[in-house]
Amino acid sequence: MHCQLTIDGQPFSFPLEGEFRWGRDEVLFEKHRGVISGCDWQEQGYSVFPLLDKKEQEQLRESIRQVLIRILVELNIAAPETFRLEDYHQYVRSQALHGQVISKTRFLTYAGLGIDFGEMALRIARHTGHRLSLQNPLLEKEIIILRISRPQLLDINPPHRDGYLDLWEDVLNVWVPVAGSNAHSSLPVIPGSHHWNEKDVLRTEARGAAINGLRYHVPGIVQSRYGLNLIRPNPAYGEALLFTPFLIHGAAINQNPGTTRMALELRFYGG
Ligand SMILES: [Fe+2]
Repeated sequence: MHCQLTIDGQPFSFPLEGEFRWGRDEVLFEKHRGVISGCDWQEQGYSVFPLLDKKEQEQLRESIRQVLIRILVELNIAAPETFRLEDYHQYVRSQALHGQVISKTRFLTYAGLGIDFGEMALRIARHTGHRLSLQNPLLEKEIIILRISRPQLLDINPPHRDGYLDLWEDVLNVWVPVAGSNAHSSLPVIPGSHHWNEKDVLRTEARGAAINGLRYHVPGIVQSRYGLNLIRPNPAYGEALLFTPFLIHGAAINQNPGTTRMALELRFYGG
């Protein structure tokens, strides 16, 4: 099928492979309000929060730069010491190579980035009024995801709710822009979509959706009775986009002509 959606009013369409089914008569968020209950942004499901100071931002950016230089060297790609994250697409052009980089970034840990993520969780918990932990008891090890979206390519996942997977039901999603992020590349969300009933959402099963042959863990949403109209809240550097894992998000198409976008996706456990 084709996934048709709008981002800030602009229409997009891309092929989304999979078997699609309308969901059951239930609102999943009802049972998992925990991490954002009582927040004044509970109805819209997301908030932009000042998370990092200037020094922490620079530290994070430099750590990720070092991680990528190391990965590129491992893949026999010569990256200069002056390598800029925004130029990533000039070094990694083919889909196959990009896939290899992504699989190597799966080993990122909280400890390896020179940032005190425990302190980050604490800052956010003070804001939401709910305890957060770096350790998710349903996971063997912590997961930090580096999202890389090269310009004008479909380096995207389909619209989805992380909360469809049991292990993400009780987390708070924290999306942190690192490079190349602006009103044309940052993560899109559908405000209020965490309140949508599943019978109004057409989606795949887990591991059932693929874009360009690349398969995704989380079920992909191809359509809803309300359409798929996303907006980009566009957090600035130093800010983080906080959202319930039941908010529909994804399809972070990078419309910038010559700039790779990078962001960290963290999931702090609040169960
Ligand atoms: Fe997600």
